[in-house]
Amino acid sequence: MSCENSSCSASNGEPTATRSAAPMWIIVAALVILFVGGYYFDQHSGWFDPKVYAPYASGEKLSAYQPQSGEAAALAKGKAVYESVCGICHGSDGLGKPGQAPALAGSEWVVAKGFNRLAHIPLAGVNGPIQVAGKDWNMAMAAMGAALPDDSLAAVLTYIRGSWGNKASAVSADDIKKIRASMGGASVPCSCDQLKAMPE
Ligand code: HEC
Repeated sequence: MSCENSSCSASNGEPTATRSAAPMWIIVAALVILFVGGYYFDQHSGWFDPKVYAPYASGEKLSAYQPQSGEAAALAKGKAVYESVCGICHGSDGLGKPGQAPALAGSEWVVAKGFNRLAHIPLAGVNGPIQVAGKDWNMAMAAMGAALPDDSLAAVLTYIRGSWGNKASAVSADDIKKIRASMGGASVPCSCDQLKAMPE
């Protein structure tokens, strides 16, 4: 085997490791890195406070903390009211439940141009035969929305008019206030014919 390199083991024997003190600059650099790291941690870590870390455990949770304005806020509120008051019967997907309640998705009562008849349904209740999206129903719904404040009922109607493919205008708390006042406190469930006799 030819060997021209002077560091070649064949000519100089095994390389040996010798001990020597760590150079000063490495020690200084380590201290500087430690200090900068500590400072960075102090400024940015939030000290692992759950208020900093826990609320953002998921993207969904984070978006719930975002300040919401206008339409988005009304829809979020409407969804919450819907799910606690109406969804049990009409389903969280708005498709209704056989033998329990008709669909709100695609219902002509929900997406009507005006919402006067629609608002009467939760305010007074609805009773007897009613046709919804081509299907016949003959049950009764109590005045499920009569106890809701104006803004909550407005939000829930806005939500059902704008969800599951429904595309109808929003309802304001003022609108509900006026409709409620026009009813003069009556909460006798309407029949389908009574509803149809009202302005849309
Ligand atoms: C206890 C079950 C139940 C709850 C809760 C309920 N409904 Fe109903 N809803 C019904 C039934 C049953 C009918 C059909 C009544 C009939 O056959 O005359 C109906 C009919 C309707 C209709 C007209 C038909 C249609 O599907 O478009 C609307 C609109 C409506 N409900 C909205 C609401 C809203 C808004 C809420 C919440 C504030 C609500 N309902 C809560 C059972 C319920």
